[in-house]
Parts: sequence; C-alpha cells; structure tokens
Amino acid sequence: MSESHVSAQQKAVEEDLVNRVLASFDNCENPRLKQVMQSLTVHLHDFIRDVRLTEEEWNYGIDFLTKVGHITDDKRQEFVLLSDTLGASMQTIAVNNEAYGDATEATVFGPFFLDDAPKVENGGDISFGAAGQPAWVEGTVKDTEGNPISGARIEVWECDEDGLYDVQYGDDRRTARAHLFSDEQGRYAFWGLTPVPYPIPHDGPVGQMLQSVGRSPVRAAHLHFMVTAPEKRTLVTHIFVDGDPQLEIGDSVFGVKDSLIKEFKRQPAGTETPDGRDLGEQTWAHARFDIVLAPAES
Ligand code: BEZ
Ligand code: FE
Repeated sequence: MSESHVSAQQKAVEEDLVNRVLASFDNCENPRLKQVMQSLTVHLHDFIRDVRLTEEEWNYGIDFLTKVGHITDDKRQEFVLLSDTLGASMQTIAVNNEAYGDATEATVFGPFFLDDAPKVENGGDISFGAAGQPAWVEGTVKDTEGNPISGARIEVWECDEDGLYDVQYGDDRRTARAHLFSDEQGRYAFWGLTPVPYPIPHDGPVGQMLQSVGRSPVRAAHLHFMVTAPEKRTLVTHIFVDGDPQLEIGDSVFGVKDSLIKEFKRQPAGTETPDGRDLGEQTWAHARFDIVLAPAES
C-alpha cells in the first residue's frame, strides 16, 4: 500500500503519534538537541509512512543495525561505512565545507588515516617499500588570495598496488603514508604510488547490503590528503586518477568531485625524473595537485 491510499482516519492516527513524539522533546533545555531530535522524528516517521514499513522489514532493519554494531570495534567502524555508502558522510562534508572562492573541495576521510605517520622531507618517498608504480606528486599550497602558505602540514596516505592499506596487513608495517611540510614558496613534492581502485571493507553487513542492491564496493583510485595550516580550514580530500574506469562505474562512497580528478601522466621507463632519481626499467607517473585552503572561519 502506498501512503496516498491511506484513509483520513488512519492518517490522523499516524499524525497524532508524530505530534506526541515531537512534543516529548518540548522541555529539552538544549535548543540544538531539541531541533535535531524533532527533525529526526519528522524524517524517520515520514520514511516509515512513505514506504509503509512492514513489521518484518522493521525487524530486518533492527537486525541489520545490530550486526553493524557487533562488527564495530576500535579498528572497524561499520557505522561510518554505512554512512559512507549511503552518501551521508559526503552530505555532511558538503554542509560543513561550503564552497569558498577557489578553495579545494573536500571529500571523505575514510578509515585508514593514522596520526603518527612518518615525516618525509619535501621530495621524499612516502611509499616505504609498498608495491606500485611510482608517482611524483607535486603542487603548491596557497590561500584563496593566491598567497603561498609555507609550513602547511600535508598528510598523505594510500593503498598499495594490491588495493591494501598498510593497516590491513595485520602486521606493524607503516607504508604508503607520511607527512611533509610545504616550503617557503608553498611548494611540496613527494614520491608516492599511482593510485589503484580497491574495495572498501565488504565482508560485513554493509558489504551484504551493497551486494543485495547490486552495488559494487569498489572505490575509484585515489590518494588521500589532509592539509592543515594556522587560521585555515583543515582540508580532508583526495585526488582521483583521470582515465580510471571506476570513475565511470561510480565510487562506492560518492567521494568523487570533478575538480579532484587529476592526470597521472604515465612516463615511459627511462624518462628523466624530476629529482634525478634512477627508476631503471620502471615506468612512473607525474601528477600535479595545487591546493587552496579556505580561511578557518568560512
Ligand atoms: C577510503 O578511501 O580509504 C575509504 C573511504 C570510505 C570508506 C572506506 C574506505
Ligand atoms: Fe582510501
């Protein structure tokens, strides 16, 4: 039955319940909490009434959320994964990172950041032995007026050519992640790996949900960045690889923005590298990512 076939008498019963739940928050002394709870009530009841949720489906939903809870621990955050795959994470990012001039766009954080990644010098190698095609990534960090930002802290992390982050190996390796700082002219550069597509963790309830609805768990190839500088809005973002077929198929967490798709220009083996590094018979890629940070209060 659709909502439009509901009798006036039935509608009145349902609306009365919504109003009573809304009123139950009337004495909440925290106005923001009251707003959030009342809005949640409206949307949740709208959803239940819109789809005419059956009791069997309600039970299924509770069972699903219980499984999401059971698999979640200090390393595996299935609730965030659920939020990511429903686009709720990207919507929250959109709401909280309003466009400001030509400031670089933000995207999802993901579960694989570590706050104790090693420091490399500008031009250093963040791969620490992780397998993959080397990629020279360079650019600048500027403010929205075009002034270079020196000393910006740039955290970078990515998976290896097998689509795995270091933390997924279950040992204590620390590879394909580091932090570095922009120089006096706001420039930065490092050797990383050409990103490859990889699946988000999909051996749990969120993976089952994706499979049930015919969706792929695969993310478009990307390299994560988090850039911080005094008085600037912290930027959490990635760059994506122009030409990656997964961009057409779709990113499982809706993280792609056109402005973040960059060319990783493939260089034949033997092509001279920007820092004179000898890569022997290996091909490599060259990418440029100029970063613009918005003011903190924007
Ligand atoms: C990631 O890019 O690392 C990621 C983002 C969202 C969910 C899972 C993984
Ligand atoms: Fe990632």
